[in-house]
Amino acid sequence: MLAVVSPPARSNSFNLVARGDVLRPPGAPCPLRQGPARVEQGVDVLRAAYLRLRDRMRLFVTTTRDFDEAELEEVKRGQEQLYVDVSSKLMPDDFASDLRKLRLSAECRACARRTGCPGCYVAEPGNAFAEDDARLRARLRELRGAVLDVGCGEAPYAEEFEAAASAGCLSYVGVEPEASRVALLRARHAWARYVVGTLESAAESGSLGRGGYQHILFMRSFNHLPDPAQSLALAARWLAPEGRLWLVDNVAFGLLRSREQAHRAEQGPGQLEHFRNDSAAEAAALGSSLGWRVAERWDIGPSTSNQWLLSLERP
Ligand SMILES: C[S@@+](CC[C@H](N)C(=O)[O-])C[C@H]1O[C@@H](n2cnc3c(N)ncnc32)[C@H](O)[C@@H]1O
Ligand code: SF4
Repeated sequence: MLAVVSPPARSNSFNLVARGDVLRPPGAPCPLRQGPARVEQGVDVLRAAYLRLRDRMRLFVTTTRDFDEAELEEVKRGQEQLYVDVSSKLMPDDFASDLRKLRLSAECRACARRTGCPGCYVAEPGNAFAEDDARLRARLRELRGAVLDVGCGEAPYAEEFEAAASAGCLSYVGVEPEASRVALLRARHAWARYVVGTLESAAESGSLGRGGYQHILFMRSFNHLPDPAQSLALAARWLAPEGRLWLVDNVAFGLLRSREQAHRAEQGPGQLEHFRNDSAAEAAALGSSLGWRVAERWDIGPSTSNQWLLSLERP
């Protein structure tokens, strides 16, 4: 039996809640650039952001204690992973339609007051999540051979494997601890095989078969693993010699939301399923320390969504 001591769970996102408005007619320059520099009282600029609306700038502020200064700096100023929630949900669950990515306005980038100001953000045209998802799906459709999907959840990517499976070029096994999800998937995908359990319990019970998988996927399950080094080492035992591990996950992000949405979310059931918010670079460092070579890596940045990809193979 593999003993895994779980670290404390943590959030993957923080809310920034509307605090007040500064009027700014359409086309007008930023009113905060004129006169003495002013920051709303008690507002830490790192914990705040203005959202450009048609005739105003709305100030949003976070009171989160789940993220330290360095993490907030990376989310807001490093990778610019701020989004406005346009849904009315407790927690957005379809990022492509529920969220709009924000970027710092061009005026703010050139502004001398930038470091002492929360900055004004505008919603980007296009949809970073939809674009990144389409790229990922196209990459998954290229996979051939035996595929093991660890923590498949509701198997949102299974459809990308169906054609190859039907043509006899691919076999698919999904592993998921939530039995109710697996029951639905078994009814939906006769061409796939699903196992109820964690990677660890499935490995121990022999449900993973003889191994030799060409591709072992951790699709947004990597940051849910209490001990990723142990899980990757375990996965390696089921991987073919020339096989690849595929890690896809999300870094932390900030959500501009209405006070009511944030309040309802805080009263609702906890969403703390993550143990880390590792980036591709952090996952690659772990992989290297375990002797893996990076075969492919998609980093996130200010123009992408918060989803990264890392593919590892044996040296
Ligand atoms: C955020 S969901 C991702 C689900 C799906 N792969 C996707 O991309 O939407 C993370 C999933 O990992 C599963 N999970 C967590 N720990 C696991 C483990 N040790 N072994 C297998 N699955 C695990 C959870 O039950 C959950 O369904
Ligand atoms: S950084 Fe942006 S919001 Fe702040 S004063 Fe300059 S232009 Fe205005």
